[in-house]
Amino acid sequence: MLDETMLKRHGKDHFLEYSKVMSRSEKEQLVSDVNRLDLDEIEALYKDVYENRKPIEIADDIEQVAFDVKSQFTQDELKSYRSLGLKAIKDGKFAVLLMAGGQGTRLGHKGPKGTFSFNDKSLFERQAEQLRDLVNEVGTPIHWYIMTSDVNHKDTLSFFLEHNYFDYDKNYIHFFKQDHIVSLTTEGKLILDTDKRIMRTPNGNGGVFKSLDKTNSLSEMKDNGVEYLFLNNIDNALVKVLDPEFVGYTVEQNSDVTTKSIKAYDDEKVGRLVSLEGKKRVLEYSELSPEDVNKLDNANIGIHVFKLDFLIEAASKPLPYHLAIKKLKQLDEDFSVVEVESLKFELFYFDIFKYANTFATLQVDRNKEFSPLKNKEGQDSIETAQKDLENNQLL
Ligand code: UD1
Repeated sequence: MLDETMLKRHGKDHFLEYSKVMSRSEKEQLVSDVNRLDLDEIEALYKDVYENRKPIEIADDIEQVAFDVKSQFTQDELKSYRSLGLKAIKDGKFAVLLMAGGQGTRLGHKGPKGTFSFNDKSLFERQAEQLRDLVNEVGTPIHWYIMTSDVNHKDTLSFFLEHNYFDYDKNYIHFFKQDHIVSLTTEGKLILDTDKRIMRTPNGNGGVFKSLDKTNSLSEMKDNGVEYLFLNNIDNALVKVLDPEFVGYTVEQNSDVTTKSIKAYDDEKVGRLVSLEGKKRVLEYSELSPEDVNKLDNANIGIHVFKLDFLIEAASKPLPYHLAIKKLKQLDEDFSVVEVESLKFELFYFDIFKYANTFATLQVDRNKEFSPLKNKEGQDSIETAQKDLENNQLL
């Protein structure tokens, strides 16, 4: 039974109306969904992140993070980073984590973004292939963690199975699901999705650390002798997964977090790596004034290495939720499917940077290392990624 008093107290009694026209099993599902929610917490989230939100204040003491520039290294330096990197990989000190829980709706591709192919080779395969080559080169297996979400978990698993894990040893691939959180109407009400379930959406890529912790993956890495975790996005067509030169640079820097970056062009819609009150952060372009966006041109491309001990300590620390207002397909009171602007709550993985004591950044050549696949057409699109792959002889 739905607890009428409790729902009324939380302003969620619209579900009582819905439940009148639901079948018995749908009603049972709804009751169990509602009972699993912490309505106090949801209300606090709504107030905090939406109702009482303040306009973003632009701080004056914002600075670019210090960074090295890869093109300024000599051939000898690069060679020595590469051999240092290969040795660390051979010694089993690095595991890899791919964040692939996002929805990729903007791309207009049906299925997980990683299944998108250029010349019959999917993004998943491109990344698996690089790791497979590295394993062959150093002779040591590399643990590959892949984060999915409810939205794409099943499809991702079947894609890997269908393609025989791209000939990567499947004992070293670890799929895990990120957490989800309810979406709300702009009035703070819970929403019914098109399956008549309470709508929950992936809680943003910042859910990655808690999910790793919850699935005991961090302690498993530690037991396996891993010391560093390399993390990357799914949608960078030019990503160099566990690039040995960067790995060597990371080992030498010995920082809690080591990051790759690029020089952004004017108004580019990428996050900027900044230092604010001594803490490292990524501020999205939408969080910066137009002048700052172009002044702070050292940009985040979603490639980082975290020291495992740092993650073990920081994973349980709080990260803030960010608000996204998006049109979401849902059921209205008549059970008709409608698309309405609704509230999504997302954690960002880089908010963990504030807990880091040491931070290093290497700026790399965007033409060789960054081609994000975000849109169907125009900027950062299928066409631009295709061109960049061709220019790098990767097609
Ligand atoms: C992201 C960065 C941005 C950076 C840009 C470079 C964040 C919040 N912002 O922006 O600073 O300049 O990449 O391309 O990361 N993902 C999940 N679960 C989720 C949401 C996302 O696994 O719930 C994954 C995606 O599959 C993707 C990665 O996180 O691999 C980045 O997420 P996305 O939403 O595409 O972020 P961008 O807006 O592109």
